[in-house]
Amino acid sequence: MAREYNLRPAPGPDSDAGDAESMTMLNRRQFMRYGLNSAAGVLAASLGVLGFASILMPGGGSSAGDSAVKYWAKGREDSAWYGSLHLETMKKSDFVSEAAKSKTNTSGASGVWMGLPVTVNYIPHSINSGTPEVDNKPRFQLTEGYDATGKYVGHIEDLIDKDGRIFPSDDIVMIFSRCTHLCCIPGWQLVENTFTEDHWSAGGTDSGGTKLFCICHSSRFDPTMLEMNTNRNRADGSVFNYAGIRRSGGPAPVGLPIIPVAVTGDIIEGLAFEVDGGSTLNWLTYCD
Ligand code: FES
Repeated sequence: MAREYNLRPAPGPDSDAGDAESMTMLNRRQFMRYGLNSAAGVLAASLGVLGFASILMPGGGSSAGDSAVKYWAKGREDSAWYGSLHLETMKKSDFVSEAAKSKTNTSGASGVWMGLPVTVNYIPHSINSGTPEVDNKPRFQLTEGYDATGKYVGHIEDLIDKDGRIFPSDDIVMIFSRCTHLCCIPGWQLVENTFTEDHWSAGGTDSGGTKLFCICHSSRFDPTMLEMNTNRNRADGSVFNYAGIRRSGGPAPVGLPIIPVAVTGDIIEGLAFEVDGGSTLNWLTYCD
């Protein structure tokens, strides 16, 4: 039986959520098909939750001890730019080639790392970071973070100073794809709106596209805006600070955590290490 997803339209300037009447209904087959608009330079992670259930099992998708990130294109083999690479090892050169088709020179893909859903993004930081911050010249921005109540948490540079591996390696940033709202798997928008345009503006604002998008209730996240924030371990209730990308809109209370990476040769690998008194893996514990 087809599973239905409720999609909210892009909110207006005075509202952060669409009304029920204007929701768009997509069934699961459509959800899987519309996953990625990579040709327009936006990122995709329209992973079916049902599809991921299988690879969350031990031994599925990523073998034990294998730190390489794999593409995940199940159900979108004919539509995603990496459709023919499902469960193949991610290579930076693939992302660079795909980014050349975009006016922002960015690209992204859904993936799986150690059984976890991830989104990997190529941002041409090394090319643009020394140039004026004009539109469509994306680079990573390092900024202060505030929790859901508006309380100052800290600056991401405080974490990077403790371990430089937190900063994206070789223009690649990997993000844990579980929404901080209700733990859906965020992807890029499945309907037309400004959040998925092939466009970048400085400042992490909610306008201008190139956002990671959660299909469930329209939360948006800017993969170029790196901040420190705080969240809670679902199992034991402990609170932790983490490095993440900024929530730019929607009901998600805070941004999504970064999973540090290293590019070894051309291979994208995920890293886990101790920093600030805890493991970076603890940053991923806010969902069941
Ligand atoms: S679960 Fe992502 S916006 Fe609700």
